[in-house]
Amino acid sequence: MQALPGFRDFFPEECARRNYIFARWREVARRYGFVEYDGPVLEPIDLYRKKSGGELVGQLFEFIDKGERHVALRPEMTPTLARMVAARARDFRKPIKWFSIAQFFRYEKQQRGRLREFYQLNADIFGDDSPGADAEMISLAIDMLRSFGFTAEDFVVRVSDRRAWNSFLAENRIETEAAGEFLQVIDKLDPNDSAATEQKLAAFGVSAAKLNEFLNTANQTWFEPLRHELDLRGLAKFTEFDLRIVRGLAYYTGLVFEIFDRSGKLRALAGGGRYDNLIEHLSDGATSISALGFAMGDVVLGELLTEHTTASESMEKWIRAQNEIDIYIVIAKEDRRADALRLGQQLRDAGWRVDYPLGAAKVGKQFQSAGHLNARVAVVVGEEWPDVNVKALATGEQRPIAHAEVTSHLATLLQP
Ligand code: HAM
Repeated sequence: MQALPGFRDFFPEECARRNYIFARWREVARRYGFVEYDGPVLEPIDLYRKKSGGELVGQLFEFIDKGERHVALRPEMTPTLARMVAARARDFRKPIKWFSIAQFFRYEKQQRGRLREFYQLNADIFGDDSPGADAEMISLAIDMLRSFGFTAEDFVVRVSDRRAWNSFLAENRIETEAAGEFLQVIDKLDPNDSAATEQKLAAFGVSAAKLNEFLNTANQTWFEPLRHELDLRGLAKFTEFDLRIVRGLAYYTGLVFEIFDRSGKLRALAGGGRYDNLIEHLSDGATSISALGFAMGDVVLGELLTEHTTASESMEKWIRAQNEIDIYIVIAKEDRRADALRLGQQLRDAGWRVDYPLGAAKVGKQFQSAGHLNARVAVVVGEEWPDVNVKALATGEQRPIAHAEVTSHLATLLQP
């Protein structure tokens, strides 16, 4: 029996990489003063039908539950988060700055960088509609990637605005009902296939020339305050203005952005934008609060990490440190096992990472195990009990230590 297509087994190696990604995400989100939340994995399907829109709705893992409810596994966090904020917006000081790390499910076509199960970091700000908030969001996304060791040579944030597209739609008399569909088409245009582009645009009464003129000459003044804010932080070099970014989701109202690897080989690393009307829609007008955010996925990021020498070295170093143990207890005389177990328990209670052989084993084998586990110290329990021998495994230096001194001696040896 194999895992379903697009679903992953996380053996310890993959789990360690996942934890590394989560640790960086969490650390940087907290550096920016964001607090963590979570929501349900399963939601009423209408939440997505009404709020996500676009192709996402066709990708839902959906079923009827035993109570005859039509439900779906969450394909994204934003509708859940909007519902949560709509319900209790008044209870929180503004701006609300929240993040979460959660698993999502989309019945996607199998392709590189896209699975049917993946994790996202979501970070969102509510109650601030200034360019300062836009810049804060983009800075957070940039700093997350920088924390892995990536630089402006590795990735780029492509920034655009739905309002520019709204004026294009109005100028070209594209009805509001067709707007979503039109933006989906723009989102999926293949720059190398001009015949297909012409054909797709013609359905909306737009020519490729008209579209190109708009892409090349659109007014960029709205981008200036944002760019200035990023400049102050020294982060403007990570961004590019690019109207071709429209985003597939229905709820965006202003700024939208996506992050790509510079080589252009991979799918988007992250995407987000402003959705100032979603909460009002969800609460039937009861609560109105501006909102913006983004999500970064673990799959494409994981691919970029493995390809990047310094970033993957930092990751491997972190993983080694996570898996290392502090102390291996070598039981040199099997009839001292009871004493060794008591000592092991005492050392674990003191907070050290401790391991020992679960059954009788030759001393040489035990030292080998200590080596495999990257233990820093071996404590040898044998003839001399209640005294022990303590060996620093990096230097090979070994000393007999009186029982009463064991903990303080280890504390000195194991200083970080
Ligand atoms: P999204 O662009 O659909 O946005 O997803 C954001 C990121 O999630 C993508 O850039 C990608 O890294 C990852 N991702 C999406 N689908 C898959 C997949 N099938 N396999 C692997 N990774 C995937 C949203 O989800 C919005 N809710 C983001 C947002 C938050 N907007 C405002 N706040």
